[in-house]
Amino acid sequence: MGMASSILSFLLVSALCLLSSPAPAVAQNLPPIVNGLSFTFYKSSCPKLESIVKDFLKKQFEKDIGLAAGLLRIHFHDCFVQGCDGSVLLDGSASGPSEQDAPPNLTLRPAAFQAINDLRALIDGQCGRVVSCADVVALAARDSVVLSGGPNYKVPLGRRDGVTFATRNATLASLPAPTFNVTQILPVLSRISLDADDLVALSGGHTIGRGHCSSFSNRLFPSRDPTMDQTFFNNLRIPARLPTPTRRRRWTSAARTCSTTSTMWI
Ligand code: HEM
Repeated sequence: MGMASSILSFLLVSALCLLSSPAPAVAQNLPPIVNGLSFTFYKSSCPKLESIVKDFLKKQFEKDIGLAAGLLRIHFHDCFVQGCDGSVLLDGSASGPSEQDAPPNLTLRPAAFQAINDLRALIDGQCGRVVSCADVVALAARDSVVLSGGPNYKVPLGRRDGVTFATRNATLASLPAPTFNVTQILPVLSRISLDADDLVALSGGHTIGRGHCSSFSNRLFPSRDPTMDQTFFNNLRIPARLPTPTRRRRWTSAARTCSTTSTMWI
């Protein structure tokens, strides 16, 4: 577990950044970071940035810990599509629908987008408009991991926000589909210099959060996908957060196939 945590921390720092040639880290024991980022980027312009983010999220998570999963996933969906540039936050414009409207992003949580907006307003109020949205997203993802009981890691800062968003097709091509197996996911990752070890570590992101039934029902119905572990299959068929009688009712009446609104927790 210790090793897995370290690997996840390392990857979340180094992999979910704009990928280019590595520069030396500013201090010992920190992973290498890409050119242009720094661990002290807002030291003078917004010295309390990290505590503003963490304190705000602590309060929000007391009301809804699911928000942590929503924020972590936004960071992933931002970074895999044209780099960590905050473009997933942009609304559509006259030029066409935004990344947010592309199918993989339709299940990103509105509450998580709202939290980023609220954080932006808070940070702007204290520091002026000096912090990029992409950095706010990266910090919020880190604190989501930490405040959910996951490993801590330092986040290098200084990402620039993109002014354009990706098209529907570019978004679809950049994010692995829910139906992809490892053989299909690996080439998508290799385009951004990630490999099988990275995939194992990043999949740890799924320790928290939910999956809509429709994202994996093809492996449950009409019968178990033979490559799926039997115990895992049994557990997936029971929405874990529901009390037992409700679970049974839900399973027998509604969940033989998925309605578009049904949700299971993973
Ligand atoms: C690499 C291939 C990946 C695939 C195919 C994948 C697929 C999925 C799918 C299908 C869901 C459920 C969506 C829904 O039905 O609402 C999901 C949820 C989630 N994913 Fe991934 N994912 C991948 C990588 C990652 C990575 C790298 C992270 C972060 C490090 C991540 C974090 C999450 C989180 C936190 C959730 C739960 C979101 C919530 O509860 O709102 N995923 N993912």
